[in-house]
Amino acid sequence: MDKIIIQGGRTLKGEVRISGAKNAALPILVSSLLTDGWNTYSNVPDLKDIQSTKLLLSNLGARIETDGDIIRIDAGGVCNHEAPYDLVRKMRASILVLGPLVARLKKARISLPGGCAIGARPINLHLKGLERLGASIELKHGYVEASADCLKGNEIYLDIATVTGTENLMMAAVLAKGITVLRNAAREPEVIALADVLNKMGSKIEGAGTSVITIQGVSTLHPVSVSIIPDRIETGTFMISAALTRGDVTLLNCEPDHLKATIHKLRLSGARITIEGKQIRVLGGDEILSVDIKTLPYPGFPTDMQAQFMVLMSVANGFSIISETIFENRFIHISELRRIGADIKISGNTAMITGVPTLSGAQVMATDLRASASLILAGLVAEGTTEVNRIYHLDRGYETIEKKFARLGAAIKRVKV
Ligand code: EPU
Repeated sequence: MDKIIIQGGRTLKGEVRISGAKNAALPILVSSLLTDGWNTYSNVPDLKDIQSTKLLLSNLGARIETDGDIIRIDAGGVCNHEAPYDLVRKMRASILVLGPLVARLKKARISLPGGCAIGARPINLHLKGLERLGASIELKHGYVEASADCLKGNEIYLDIATVTGTENLMMAAVLAKGITVLRNAAREPEVIALADVLNKMGSKIEGAGTSVITIQGVSTLHPVSVSIIPDRIETGTFMISAALTRGDVTLLNCEPDHLKATIHKLRLSGARITIEGKQIRVLGGDEILSVDIKTLPYPGFPTDMQAQFMVLMSVANGFSIISETIFENRFIHISELRRIGADIKISGNTAMITGVPTLSGAQVMATDLRASASLILAGLVAEGTTEVNRIYHLDRGYETIEKKFARLGAAIKRVKV
């Protein structure tokens, strides 16, 4: 397994191009299951999770061609309705095939995703929603078995505004008979991006981006050609790297509107941020100020930025509080950050951070995707050498992150072990 080695203390300067969004690309690639014929997707990031999605779709019977950041998928020949354990355990988002498979093939058998490092992450709301659309669901031998001769539109209230749950149910409802209303739907930009793609295919979805989404079912959909939106979490991660190293970094090809909460908090921390169209320039301030954050569903501060922001607060001038309200166990990076010298205490879902003047490089272990990114950030600013081990998770969600940081002036390299 590879590891990343960083000599900290360099000031980052220059431009970095932001890749397509992993969490938009995953459901959008899966939505190809709803059509016959070739769909074309551009600006697709080259990530482990994208490879897992391609493997899953080809296992179901889809034809797939890849040319750089363009992926073409024809799901006309899909006849297998099973997502096996070996594929689902590599990527929880595999559950996204449930809705489209039931809509298209009238049945699906999907290995139940287990918990993961950040929490139990049940899928009960995906299943309850699908039942409301008329599917019968059984859990057998670790698999979800769902079937429905004909899905029928219905009112669905989501107890929690689940992101992939909303996406799964939208993909099931587009081919259902009648009208589906999703209440307390997730409002993330990735949900809007999926709805836009589905509408381009011929669906009738209104309200995506609000908490009430209305879907008028249609009988068939057609293939599309679309581009994946920029990754707001990759954008935020690079913004923090600039603030952290007192650098001057311009992010190209990003969507500033999707990062309002992150930009607001970074400005409060002393970073100077200017926005021009699809570009964001971040100039690190002379001093990093303490700022409290609480993770919330969009448009609140994203849980996927919590670990990275915590690194910034670890070297801030003062004391800050970070509350995690989305996942029950998303503080696993803290023990590793402490090894790099951060002063962080935990009480329940609250972390109390006392900023220290310097972090000191150490050997650390990556535990989940965003935790991995936080350790890289800590390494960029720590004195001496930081070695981030088990970076498998990083490759699931960041495209060549070490090359992008190296181009900004970081002393960072990947080592094959
Ligand atoms: N939840 C339930 N029941 C459900 C579904 C969710 O209790 O049926 C709970 C979860 O356990 C969690 C909360 O609801 O406590 C929110 O989870 P959500 O379903 O919204 O998360 P997700 O759809 O599984 C997506 C992203 C995550 C991101 C979260 C929150 C994708 C593929 N994944 O996960 O991204 O953290 O939304 O914004 O879109 C990442 O990229 O690193 C990542 C973890």
